[in-house]
Amino acid sequence: MSPPADILDKGKVLMSYSDCATCHKATDRKRGPAFQDIAARYPMNSTYIDILAKRIVLGTKGAWGSVVMPPHPALSEEDARTMVTYILSLHRGD
Ligand code: HEC
Repeated sequence: MSPPADILDKGKVLMSYSDCATCHKATDRKRGPAFQDIAARYPMNSTYIDILAKRIVLGTKGAWGSVVMPPHPALSEEDARTMVTYILSLHRGD
């Protein structure tokens, strides 16, 4: 599944307006995992997009270590799904 470019652009813009960059970088671990590592772990499909979007909204822990990602209650799940679609598109192949 290869999402349309306008969705990817929108995901990137939404993230630039949120706090993601406080804890995430594209290629290196910061407080949270690198977006490329997240993209390498999960396949791009609607099941994983839903799961990861819910984790962003509700907060999550345990998948990458002991650091907690706080919830983002102001984010709609729709916007969170758009962000996840962009993140998963950063997969660089094997
Ligand atoms: C305060 C730090 C912090 C902020 C802000 C933050 N994250 Fe995270 N994020 C984390 C940490 C820590 C983890 C790893 C949690 C774990 O181990 O399960 C994580 C994990 C993730 C994951 C992978 C979840 C999984 O289950 O594998 C995604 C996707 C993600 N973040 C996206 C985002 C997006 C998008 C934003 C901005 C809306 C954001 N994060 C903001 C710290 C943060």
